Amino acid sequence: MEDRKWQRKKPIKITETILRDAHQSLIATRMTTEQMLPIVEKMDKVGYHSVECWGGATFDASLRFLKEDPWERLRKFRDGFKNTKLQMLFRGQNILGYRPYADDVVEYFVQKSVANGIDVIRIFDCLNDLRNLQTAVTAAVKEKADAQVALSYTLGDAYTLDYWVDIAKKIEDMGATSICLKDMAGLLVPYKATEMIEALKEATSLPIQLHTHYTSGVASMTYLKAVEAGVDVIDTAMSPFALGTSQPATEVMVETFKGTPYDTGFDQGLLSEIADHFRPIRDAALESGLLNPKNMGVNIKTLLYQVPGGMLSNLTSQLKEQNAEDKYYDVLEEVPRVRKDLGEPPLVTPSSQIVGTQAVFNVLMGERYKMATKETKDILSGKYGATVKPFDEEVKKKVLGENPEVITCRPADLIPDELDTLRKECAQWSQQDEDVLSYALFPQVATDFFKYREAQQTKIDQTMADTKNGSYPV
Ligand code: CO
Repeated sequence: MEDRKWQRKKPIKITETILRDAHQSLIATRMTTEQMLPIVEKMDKVGYHSVECWGGATFDASLRFLKEDPWERLRKFRDGFKNTKLQMLFRGQNILGYRPYADDVVEYFVQKSVANGIDVIRIFDCLNDLRNLQTAVTAAVKEKADAQVALSYTLGDAYTLDYWVDIAKKIEDMGATSICLKDMAGLLVPYKATEMIEALKEATSLPIQLHTHYTSGVASMTYLKAVEAGVDVIDTAMSPFALGTSQPATEVMVETFKGTPYDTGFDQGLLSEIADHFRPIRDAALESGLLNPKNMGVNIKTLLYQVPGGMLSNLTSQLKEQNAEDKYYDVLEEVPRVRKDLGEPPLVTPSSQIVGTQAVFNVLMGERYKMATKETKDILSGKYGATVKPFDEEVKKKVLGENPEVITCRPADLIPDELDTLRKECAQWSQQDEDVLSYALFPQVATDFFKYREAQQTKIDQTMADTKNGSYPV
């Protein structure tokens, strides 16, 4: 094939995910700031395009399980990473939570994320409904951050090459500064990647980044083909937290491209020192059971059923709770049917939970849609936005009844501004501007954290006073 203008033939750029997606995918987002900070100075010397270190589930996990202020973590990263761009993952109108928020909360969250140190905001929507991304994209551009729109990659009748090309063009028109193809289940196989990346590069002048997971075992090969096809950036994780349900290993991809036009120029010696820092953390997680060896292997079922790895484990635990583990394969076969009924959305938070739970109900009740969850009703009412395909009319009628009230506008147009109300609600705990945003996303969890923070401060104040008075606490 003759060379095309967009074929890079220049060093491939790398986004390091070990501080966000890698530990989210392998150890339930439990790495602490204290475990990360000592290695930041070395990571800053590597030459990464960016380090993904914030957003996704890290915000929730910091507050809920680690009793850490996520904003404080971000400021410490910013202090340490003097030369490297910091990147976060953002769920469109849902921000980092699980419900759609008013525009004023989305805008303020973006503003504060950038003010505290974020350079690149990767924004996605579980339905690929671009209307759910517009507010965040505009806010990110206004704050002079890189507004990257991520397309949730999936397979199905509706997802033709034309669909992806068309949506990429629309993303360019909406003002995004780069595009990410986000393959959360590892469904993009190597030769398909060639086709996709070539088509996307042809369609838009924006930089294209590829994000995938190793779950189905093909990810490193997919990156190889994508890089040859002209992709600009790939996401990798340092080897101690790579592979399995995480990303391909940074060191391996660096070595793969050594001596080629795609050579990253990274220092393997330096990478190996960084890996030495993370390896004991991995080993301790294996020992404590936090890291399940099951997540380290290849799960070929993700390719067979086209279901993300995380969703498979959710289904297993839902069925276990109902003492219905023998229905596992019935449910797996019901998942694509429910997905079709609901307009064939990608399966990613929260659409994966909605489809999965409804599939479990359909199988356990012995009759499809005898019982519909609130979320199934909401998606059919248009509250999550528009799906790529229409809903199944029969199913819609059975779940919502005759002549139901449905939304066709951008869902957030119906949500009045809420920042002032939220500020009042959490005023008694607030110690910094950002606290209202933590509270907006997770009211209960944030309040518990604020109380914990205050108790800690009282303890410290007491110790200081005792020390001054010469009476040391025992
Ligand atoms: Co991911």
